[in-house]
Amino acid sequence: MTETSALPRPPRLPRHTDRLVLRPLRHGDEADVLAYRRRADVCRYMPASPLDDISVRTFIADRTGATKIAADNDFIALAVTHHDHVIGDVMIRAGQLADRQAEIGWVLNPGYQGRGFATEAARELIEVAFSELRMHRAWAQLDPRNVASARVCERLGMRQEAHLRHDIWFKGEWGDTAIYAMLADEWRDRGQLRSRRS
Ligand SMILES: CC(C)(COP(=O)(O)OP(=O)(O)OC[C@H]1O[C@@H](n2cnc3c(N)ncnc32)[C@H](O)[C@@H]1OP(=O)(O)O)[C@@H](O)C(=O)NCCC(=O)NCCS
Repeated sequence: MTETSALPRPPRLPRHTDRLVLRPLRHGDEADVLAYRRRADVCRYMPASPLDDISVRTFIADRTGATKIAADNDFIALAVTHHDHVIGDVMIRAGQLADRQAEIGWVLNPGYQGRGFATEAARELIEVAFSELRMHRAWAQLDPRNVASARVCERLGMRQEAHLRHDIWFKGEWGDTAIYAMLADEWRDRGQLRSRRS
């Protein structure tokens, strides 16, 4: 089997960062998740509708087993926890496995925004994508009006590769899509630079 055709191994979970634990979503997380995913402002730029008491159960149930990439279009969904509270969730989605592309995404409870938690969680997500899943490229797509999300990409060192004009009919209007990306080699180079400086 070549490197490109080998299935990625399941990543080691949970993931610990300085301030956060990233772990699989599980039954019992409904109230914490609903606290932010029920909000229209949180969902404004996401391809998702606000959840309610019923749909949050399906949301969690659909993601409890999303912990590995074993087939085309599989995804990993993780709760972002801080002091045992779920303050957000993040995901890595593979397209065609052979392409080794990892789409990454994030959402954070507004009560925890502005403290660098999303960037900290996303950095760990990229680490999982490159070091454990052996992906070749990590990328994110977002509405260019979503400045906070674009800033997360920039803080991670991702490059804006595209701004597609009116490529999507989104929530009742034509929307634009910005694409940000980074290659595994670029991530490793940044790591080497950081350790050389320290
Ligand atoms: C996108 C989203 C996750 C970004 O959250 P965020 O809190 O702005 O991002 P971070 O957690 O990385 O925090 C960054 C902010 O904290 C500040 N900060 C404080 N301490 C920090 C630290 N230790 N490290 C980094 N940033 C820090 C930064 O200066 C920055 O503030 P600024 O944007 O005013 O410059 C959030 O806006 C969100 O959930 N939005 C709704 C869902 C959504 O749209 N998801 C994306 C779909 S594409």
